[in-house]
Amino acid sequence: MKTVRTIAELRSGLDAARRAGARIGFVPTMGFFHEGHLSLMRRARNECDVVVVSLFVNPTQFNDPSDLAAYPRDERRDAARAEGVGVDCLFAPNEAEMYPPATATAVVVSGVSEPLEGVSRGPGHFRGVATVVAKLFNIVQPGVAYFGQKDAQQALVIRRMARDLDFPLLVEVCPTVREPDGLAMSSRNVRLSADARQQALALKRGLDAATAAVAAGERDRDRVERRGRDAMAALGVEPEYFAVLSAAGLTPVNPLAGEILVAVAAHIGGVRLIDNAIVAVTAS
Ligand code: PAJ
Repeated sequence: MKTVRTIAELRSGLDAARRAGARIGFVPTMGFFHEGHLSLMRRARNECDVVVVSLFVNPTQFNDPSDLAAYPRDERRDAARAEGVGVDCLFAPNEAEMYPPATATAVVVSGVSEPLEGVSRGPGHFRGVATVVAKLFNIVQPGVAYFGQKDAQQALVIRRMARDLDFPLLVEVCPTVREPDGLAMSSRNVRLSADARQQALALKRGLDAATAAVAAGERDRDRVERRGRDAMAALGVEPEYFAVLSAAGLTPVNPLAGEILVAVAAHIGGVRLIDNAIVAVTAS
């Protein structure tokens, strides 16, 4: 596996493969790889001729400077893990390479970027995500790009952007990888103390309670949300949001019908965690 730091080097490195018609798979990341990241890389490895992973802790998507400062980093370990699953190229640019002075252009996706994380983290978050991903798409020019369902709203924002701006690529969204006890894997989990690690189970418990309520026939959105919040309260956690929305467009839906997204965010011991579940509501 090659690690490259510049856009020019990445482009020239992919030139021959592209000319030969290779299918290029791309996994954008901020590093500190866990099984969630590796699952996207393995899928890309299975489906593509060349696999490119980017590792860039994108400062423009962090609304909280202390969260950016505390974001875990270990490039050497990441490189070893990526190589271990057969990644061909790790693109790890520095900030000046991605944002030269006088950068003035940003990508704003309206609609799906506005609720949930858009409210909690402000409009700058998804503007930062969409802009860096658009840049990365133009730098790598993949045929397929892989994202995780763990960040459900991000995946919707990227799909919308790819469609609206006619990026000639497929966006694939892969299932959330979890710890054996259900906690969604996240680079931020390493910052949880032992107590907080236990409390962090509240997110999945809340999602499970809401999902079980729907499975038992509950179709009132507010009651489903309350079931989720109550399950979290039992572990002493109050969510930043616990919301039930349409899975396709993140619009309000009540009574519940079609595919719904149950989404939760909570601060646990100073660490902000998110999780979600998709539920197909059958007619009853
Ligand atoms: P990061 O948080 O590093 O995540 C990189 C990719 O891994 C995202 O598509 C994310 O949804 C996926 N992922 C994270 N945890 C996962 C899990 N437990 N199971 C499955 N997939 C998981 O998301 C970002 O970086 C950034 O916003 C980025 C898109 C790279 C733009 O800067």
